[in-house]
Amino acid sequence: MRLAISIKNLFFKYRNENVLEEINATICEGEYIALIGPNGGGKSTLLKLILGLLTPTQGEVLIFGKPPFKQRKLLGYMPQYVNFKLELPLLVKEVILQGRLERFKFRYTPNDFKALYEISQKLKIENLLDKKISTLSGGLRQRVLLARALIANPKILLLDEPTASVDMKAQREIYALLKTLPITKLVVSHDINLLLEGVDRVFYVNKRLVIHESLDIKISSPREGHFCQVELFEELKRSKNDRSS
Ligand SMILES: Nc1ncnc2c1ncn2[C@@H]1O[C@H](COP(=O)(O)OP(=O)(O)O)[C@@H](O)[C@H]1O
Ligand SMILES: [Mg+2]
Repeated sequence: MRLAISIKNLFFKYRNENVLEEINATICEGEYIALIGPNGGGKSTLLKLILGLLTPTQGEVLIFGKPPFKQRKLLGYMPQYVNFKLELPLLVKEVILQGRLERFKFRYTPNDFKALYEISQKLKIENLLDKKISTLSGGLRQRVLLARALIANPKILLLDEPTASVDMKAQREIYALLKTLPITKLVVSHDINLLLEGVDRVFYVNKRLVIHESLDIKISSPREGHFCQVELFEELKRSKNDRSS
């Protein structure tokens, strides 16, 4: 299996203090990774480093063996905060098409429109294309942003809290949909219950990274001295109880 993402001895600081320290990880093509951790733990920052929007203070990120800036086309991204200014009456189709924009490209081609219809059918939003994005519910808006992240056929999908401020039903739909996408996925989320369905591994980030290979085994036999962290255990136990009740 090919290596999709490799992170080697990565450190990052915005100002003086390290936000991320000594991060090492490899992600294979097709893996589905959940990225969890406390607020301010560095999850969004890690995604931005993988995207090449930020540059490591030390260490490196490689996407299929090359630096992120050379692999932009392979990366689909849904940021944590997207503000649609209400005075800017953007239509759903315009938002989705933004995912096909490239440098030095000033107009959309017939292929772009073909991709627009394909992805909106896949995500069942084809009847919303001419609506204003500002009029949609939170759940539908997130679906539109997911379409924007997917419209250029990325090999790797990076989602930053895709179901924040979305109702339970829409959350469930989004996770069900993600499960069906056969690409490499790295998803930041607090909705552990839903997220854990179909996830291969969990990355817990709080300045440093702790990787959990197999959730259920770790939960049933937490070993003393193992580097699983208490908070994660609590979170996972809770989610397991919720799931089985
Ligand atoms: N643009 C920025 N400038 C300075 N500090 C930042 C910036 N963005 C995030 N931080 C700080 O970096 C840390 C990690 O933030 P972030 O990656 O957003 O965490 P998370 O997504 O896990 O909540 C936090 O302490 C945050 O305050
Ligand atoms: Mg964040």
